[in-house]
Amino acid sequence: MVVPRIGKQSLCGIIGFAKSSKASLRCPEILRDGLRRLEYRGYDSAGIAVLSQGLLTIVKDVGSVEKIIESPGFSMLDGGVAIGHTRWATHGKPSKDNAHPHTDCRKRIAVVHNGIIENYMDLKRLLLEEGHVFTSETDTEVIAHLIEHFKSLGEKSFEAFKKAVSMLRGSYALAVIDVDEPDKIFFARNVSPLLIGLGSGVNFVSSDLASFVKYTNRVVVLMDGELGYISASDVHLELGGKPVDISSRIRVVELDAQSIEKGGFHHYMAKEIFEQPYALAQTFSALQTQNLSEVLKILAEARRVYIVGAGTSYHASLLGAIAFKRFLGLEAEALISSEFKVVSRAIKWGDVVIGVSQSGETIDTLLALREAREKGAKTVALVNNPFSTIARESDYVISMRAGPEIAVAATKTFTTQVLTLLYIVARLAEFIGSIDVDYRALIQGLKISHEVAQNILKASVEICKAIATELARKQSAYYLGRVFGVPIAMEGALKLKEIAYIHAEAYPAGESKHGPIALIENGFPVIFIYLGFLDELLESNVEEMKARGAYIITVAQGDTTLSSIARYSNTIIKMPKAPLEARLVTYAIPLQLIAYYTSIMKGLDPDKPRNLAKTVTVI
Ligand code: M6R
Repeated sequence: MVVPRIGKQSLCGIIGFAKSSKASLRCPEILRDGLRRLEYRGYDSAGIAVLSQGLLTIVKDVGSVEKIIESPGFSMLDGGVAIGHTRWATHGKPSKDNAHPHTDCRKRIAVVHNGIIENYMDLKRLLLEEGHVFTSETDTEVIAHLIEHFKSLGEKSFEAFKKAVSMLRGSYALAVIDVDEPDKIFFARNVSPLLIGLGSGVNFVSSDLASFVKYTNRVVVLMDGELGYISASDVHLELGGKPVDISSRIRVVELDAQSIEKGGFHHYMAKEIFEQPYALAQTFSALQTQNLSEVLKILAEARRVYIVGAGTSYHASLLGAIAFKRFLGLEAEALISSEFKVVSRAIKWGDVVIGVSQSGETIDTLLALREAREKGAKTVALVNNPFSTIARESDYVISMRAGPEIAVAATKTFTTQVLTLLYIVARLAEFIGSIDVDYRALIQGLKISHEVAQNILKASVEICKAIATELARKQSAYYLGRVFGVPIAMEGALKLKEIAYIHAEAYPAGESKHGPIALIENGFPVIFIYLGFLDELLESNVEEMKARGAYIITVAQGDTTLSSIARYSNTIIKMPKAPLEARLVTYAIPLQLIAYYTSIMKGLDPDKPRNLAKTVTVI
């Protein structure tokens, strides 16, 4: 079988379970919990297939998973084997026909898939010539017909499945059920993540641990090219036609079901914003227990350090690169991971590339790191998910402990990423014996950043709600800062765009007069980030904006003596006194709150912004 290591992916979620008739778990509950947990991965359509007494029942529809869960008869489903899917459309618009599961002509085989089958057009042409009838525009449907094809040639179900998989090019995490093998779910993985969950009297296959962690925390992370099947009592795994023993691969993960509940908040995003003090404290203590000596050594010896990430993780990377340069005077550059090609020719043996990724599955970042390794660089993964592909493929892993982040908008993982990068800078200062940096003070400042976060949350909720009332009426906003304030401004702007659908841009404040200021008119909102670091550089920019009628919001330490803040601000978000490093970690928090409350004021669902998915695995 050809196993391409690089492929396009889509963003769907899949879940499957096989349970014994004695297991007390009920089919509708497992599917309901699983689908709800997966919905953050994609939410334009959903579906399930259940095998019971030789019958295959399929329910699927466009829209949210709740439509499936509330459909007539859902709560009466009674199967020992079932699969489910949440979709984020790539091939074919969101529609009932294009929703998974997809079936063969006789509706005896059902397939759910995350990934993109790159050669599906060729396969479909062959199958159409053979008389197969397709009912969707998806790439996935070919898989069901291919299995049907091999069965019609006399193969047993599992053999037919394996032959079908061997013809696929691209990326896939697959779960397949077949009426002729009513106790099993066949699975295969290439590029798209897939896990096996081992329960008692029940086994799971899923793209996401959160979908079954309520039932078991014993998992096997599948590797590219592996395939097999689960039943209620058995897991069969093979690679390249040879059986694989899973006993040494079983891991017990620390993730309790409660940490993925909303915990009394209306939205995951709110819960995740408010649990930042805890996430920061946890991450700080996890960093202290991780052995960083090898990472510090390669960083100290590096000719150049690149920090790559996408979206929010890129903003944290930018802040990290500024810290490497300003604190340590080291050659460091942050890059958007999908733009890594810009420097790929400049990468030399001994360079270090740090990949920053909450999920550890973002394909752009994964591909950048693969390319870096091919060029001889050492790679370091900075991830929130130590079981992820990026973690597995990197030379070194630094793991944050932000806990699961479900909301599409990253919040607590930004602040914990910044904390982690600054911690590395502090430890590197110690390692290289820097005389310019008081590393002990730096670490102490980071250590208390969870308290600073707590104080910010206490002090800024009401003012951020008031600002949100203003912003909800606006079409656009600027976020301006200087030096470290720029990535924080960028993060604030991304949050407002993502979940409140307000056009927002961030600039280095000094750059605003080179063009962006042309848009300023009466009431145009401009949010200035005063970090207490080179703040005086902002003074003239604030004046320029105010003179043109901007509505000025400032984030600044409450005790600042800068006259521009009091004189020109329409609203000030007063931040508690804190050391610089703690300010760098926490100043995005009021910006997250502003975006969250603006989204609420506009009647939007901040957890499910349109067109987005939590883990972006499409190139
Ligand atoms: O999982 P990652 O950190 O690699 O994800 C990167 C981006 O896709 C992610 O930060 C995205 O920009 C978020 N929606 C931002 O809120």
